[in-house]
Amino acid sequence: MSAPSPAPSPRGRFITFEGIDGAGKSTQHARLIDYLRDKGVTVVASREPGGTPLGEKLRTLLLGDSMHLETEALLMFAARREHIAQVIEPALMRGDWVVCDRFTDASVAYQGGGRGLPLTKLQQLATWVQGDLRPDLTLVFDAPVELAQARVRSGTTNPDRFEQEQNEFFQRVRQAYLAIAANEPLRVKVINATQSPEKIATEVKALVDKVYLIH
Ligand code: TYD
Repeated sequence: MSAPSPAPSPRGRFITFEGIDGAGKSTQHARLIDYLRDKGVTVVASREPGGTPLGEKLRTLLLGDSMHLETEALLMFAARREHIAQVIEPALMRGDWVVCDRFTDASVAYQGGGRGLPLTKLQQLATWVQGDLRPDLTLVFDAPVELAQARVRSGTTNPDRFEQEQNEFFQRVRQAYLAIAANEPLRVKVINATQSPEKIATEVKALVDKVYLIH
């Protein structure tokens, strides 16, 4: 009789970070990854658009070249398709955690809220590209647009195509994120990103510790 095959490892957790440019999510993304690794969790740290060699090429185009708003949405989802297939699904199947700087909520907030692409089109793309894959936890870093814009201006001398947008654009993106959080309060948590980085990190850890217990 052959030996029983080992039990499959439990699926990993999928956590995404969201917010308008300048909300400070990238710093917290790095801190959370350190925190989880210290706890012994195997973490795949990634970002969108990007996360694969092809996705990073698409990112360069998306952040640099002007294009039709539907082309922009399609390229975001093309990069996402590759990212899910090459990185996210294999990692979750191995039992690793994936902590991703932006995912589909960014398309809903930026291409939907910011640019005005109808939500139905974005939902069709999301259904096609990700099936029933959803983050277990999404953290929306929320800050007033003026504050976030000031952070972007002080942090970069060479703003990308999105960072060059006007305040009104970011107001719409911010409102879209808050609407997503209001619609899905179990998955999506809003974090007040005007607090100190220490306070924010403590809040992030508390929310992530809870996600440990699900499934
Ligand atoms: P980000 O990684 O936050 O930029 P930075 O490296 O400057 O911190 O994200 C890049 C930009 O891409 C950001 O302005 C938001 C935009 N974006 C979308 O418009 N739609 C999407 O689906 C994604 C994933 C990002």
